[in-house]
Amino acid sequence: MRRSGARALIVVALLLAGGLFISGGLAAAEEQPSAAQMMDDLMYGRGPVGGPFTLTDTTGKPRSDSEFRGKLMIVYFGYTYCPDVCPADLMAITQALDALGPLAEGVQPVFITVDPERDTKLLGEYISAFHHSLVGLTGSPEEIRKVANAYKAFYIKVPDAQGGDYSIDHTGVIYLMGRDGEYLGFMPPQTSPERLTEILRKYLGK
Ligand code: NI
Repeated sequence: MRRSGARALIVVALLLAGGLFISGGLAAAEEQPSAAQMMDDLMYGRGPVGGPFTLTDTTGKPRSDSEFRGKLMIVYFGYTYCPDVCPADLMAITQALDALGPLAEGVQPVFITVDPERDTKLLGEYISAFHHSLVGLTGSPEEIRKVANAYKAFYIKVPDAQGGDYSIDHTGVIYLMGRDGEYLGFMPPQTSPERLTEILRKYLGK
């Protein structure tokens, strides 16, 4: 009786350890703070924003943030199926860069998909509809989650009511990074191209 009781305890302990191990692994891959927490930290400037990353561009080439040193870097998280916010913000970025003329060479816009499963071949086509200098980046879900967390960018899949389709709720801010990769700040969704141009000019020193 005692023996089998002890054995049962060991089995339970092993099951628990295994369960914890598995859920710990899942948590590491999927974990993200709440949308409110991330937005709050971003708004009040709590903790670092950005940092080194290596993702894959639309030609399959690995690209790192360090390549863009010496330029201002615009970072935007979105996805090609996004019905309105992403295209509007990408259009604003495009118009701002066009307004800068040759000065736009000092700015590197980067679009990071938060929907790597669907944004495969389509991603290149999609971003080429906007500014020619836009670099579209993708990666494994874990890689993208890591970069998004570093930028305090929230995103979550929202299944459609009918069918197996989904959309993605995501932070739609435009991040601006400096020439040394330092975080300069963010611009809210639907910032006008004029305002964007003004801010970029300021940081370009022109
Ligand atoms: Ni969007």
